[in-house]
Amino acid sequence: MPPWAEARTLVQALRGRPGGLCVLTGAGMSAESGIPTFRDALTGLWARFDPAELASEAGFRAHPQRVWDWYAMRRDGVRRAEPNAGHHALASHARRWPGGLVLVTQNVDDLHQRAGHTDAVRLHGDILADRWLQPCPQREGCATTRAQAGRPPRCADCGNLLRPGVVWFGESLPAAALAAARDAAERCEVMLVVGTSGAVWPAAGLVGRARQRGAKVVIVNPSPSEIDAEAHLLLRGTAAHLLPLLLDAAEPGP
Ligand code: OAD
Repeated sequence: MPPWAEARTLVQALRGRPGGLCVLTGAGMSAESGIPTFRDALTGLWARFDPAELASEAGFRAHPQRVWDWYAMRRDGVRRAEPNAGHHALASHARRWPGGLVLVTQNVDDLHQRAGHTDAVRLHGDILADRWLQPCPQREGCATTRAQAGRPPRCADCGNLLRPGVVWFGESLPAAALAAARDAAERCEVMLVVGTSGAVWPAAGLVGRARQRGAKVVIVNPSPSEIDAEAHLLLRGTAAHLLPLLLDAAEPGP
């Protein structure tokens, strides 16, 4: 049996079992929607841009306009992109088997949500959301919608700057999301890992956590990743090609 068919059998055996399937996605999930990954050698964002400059609070404070403009460019790319067959396969599986699939994503785009997956656990935030750089000094808290146009926009009352609602290097993950992700990893019977290099923690640690608790680990990635050693089944292919096969029980094309 080819590994994708073995993986499909594992997933089919879980249908409808609450929390049986945990899916962890990374940037490769959205690559076929035209959103670049971070670490692919030629096309990844970190091959062309410096993460310390563009994805840290220190970088933002040093060059707020440059960082704001970079995120504005990425936001445009996200808004133009459409969910691919992989996003749709996950969302339709979740609809068909309510409660059976917990989706944990490192992605800051909204393609899982636009495919219909409204309860994804978002570990690294939301690139389309704004938040204040500093806790608001006003007692009630100023609404981010009050920011005056600018690059970046600034609060008319207190001068606070807006920043994108993503987790930057050196920052903690949202506590509730991390707790939900760890719980899902510990409870699942199969963890399906899609399109992540496994280079960023604590997200990468979810895979070992699931395996230690007895879950079968299936990795979908066209290239080697740092967590391949955790896999029971390694599927060398893309998200948009393999997820419909694994989840919709479709037969492979020619
Ligand atoms: P990476 O860019 O590190 O890894 C992307 C992975 O996707 C690689 O292993 C690729 O081989 C794989 N890949 C590429 N195309 C694919 C496809 N069509 N189908 C399936 N897999 C494919 O992205 P992440 O692991 O998500 O942080 O990176 C983790 C975090 O690092 C990101 O969330 C981001 C970044 O700094 C934040 O935005 C906070």
